[in-house]
Amino acid sequence: MNSFDLHIPTHIYFGKEKRESFLEHLEKFGKRVLIVTGGGSVKRLGYYDDLSQLLNSRGFVLTHFEGIEPNPHSRTINRAAELGSRKEVDFVLAFGGGSVMDASKAIAGLIHDEETDIWPFVLGEPRYKTMKGALPVATIPTTAATASEVTAHAVISNPDVKGKAPVSYPFMKPSASWLNPEFHTSLPLHTTRDGASDIISHVIENYLLGGNDSPLADRYSEAVMETVLTTLPMIEKNPEDEALRGRLLWASTMALNGMQVAGRKPAPFTLHNLEHSLSGYRPELAHGRGLATLYPAYLRWLLENDRVKDRIALMGRRLFNIESTDDYEASMGAITAFENWLRINGLFQSLSDVGIPADAFEEIANYAITTYGGGRELSAAGPLNKGQIIEIFQKTELQGKEAQTDASLPQI
Ligand code: NZQ
Ligand code: ZN
Repeated sequence: MNSFDLHIPTHIYFGKEKRESFLEHLEKFGKRVLIVTGGGSVKRLGYYDDLSQLLNSRGFVLTHFEGIEPNPHSRTINRAAELGSRKEVDFVLAFGGGSVMDASKAIAGLIHDEETDIWPFVLGEPRYKTMKGALPVATIPTTAATASEVTAHAVISNPDVKGKAPVSYPFMKPSASWLNPEFHTSLPLHTTRDGASDIISHVIENYLLGGNDSPLADRYSEAVMETVLTTLPMIEKNPEDEALRGRLLWASTMALNGMQVAGRKPAPFTLHNLEHSLSGYRPELAHGRGLATLYPAYLRWLLENDRVKDRIALMGRRLFNIESTDDYEASMGAITAFENWLRINGLFQSLSDVGIPADAFEEIANYAITTYGGGRELSAAGPLNKGQIIEIFQKTELQGKEAQTDASLPQI
């Protein structure tokens, strides 16, 4: 085991019965609340009206900002912060997916620091790491995906420069989060699949690159992956099943709360560095969809370059019941079984399928290197330079839409 520093300050309320306890918790932060929502789903579904009535009845003074986009734009965040400052709010309540939760953290930081623009504070920009604090943030996640309800991160997009990069501070970790699976039952299947793909990514990144020193982190990560691999197909058949939705939601929170890396050697979030560069280039691309597009190409590239074969093989044996004692065979088995799962669950495609043309690969790789690689290179159990990133992007083109499910492949 390697040394680690783990602080999980978020008070989690799980289940619809915990509504009153959560609302009571919010009273600690003050009465004036800025509620942040997305493009309209929580209003359309009636969730917002119910919540605002409850808050009003408890004497909260509500200011509502609606209109955070998927892959939240810095300019929209700035507008919301301006509103919150003007109304002198005490705290920010995010009611939506990862984009709304991330935006809320950034808004809480801008209001606290009396700043007007979030973009200079993201990774790669001049004021990175210089924020001083944030108003308290509470969240009600409506997607099972990012774990933003417990993380220190806010990932910000800026379409003006085709950029997407994080701000991360311990003080941005939400103080309280209410996880209510009821809010997930009407989530479209496409978005549910994107979210499932993101959950897997949060454990697979360091499962692959974080070494062998923490067997418990391995088993923990496998449990999260296994939960997603088995639960998503069940949700496809019963999208309104609250118990299944709850299972996926809890897996998402567990996947990025810090437990998944405890005791591992430090390792980069390479797939995320690549995916954020892709969805920065094309903000219409959902984060989880971008990750799903990269998985097969990335795993095959690692194996072809003789990197972390033992880790891919471990995943094959533990998650896909591959019996071979040969690491190469077990790795190939893992990759084909995982690809099969992606196909079955509508997550197998190429970059051109998701609107990223091959002639953009170089520009995107340059962005990844500049922003996430400090201008030099990324790493994936060894250096990952611009040419190698482009190779991975090109490999996705073998994952065409026409690819069919192969029922003879190992199933979980
Ligand atoms: O905008 P609305 O109308 O709410 O619609 C959203 C949006 O179109 C919709 N949706 C959400 N809840 C719904 C619903 N539709 C119907 N019923 C509901 N209950 O879903 C769409 C996608 O929402 P979004 O919030 O963008 O998705 P997600 O939760 O996947 O968040 C993605 C963002 O989080 C970042 C990603 O990069 C991306 O910007 N991430 C944040 C992380 C963190 N804070 O730690 C880590 C992640 O790795 C990730 O990078
Ligand atoms: Zn992610």
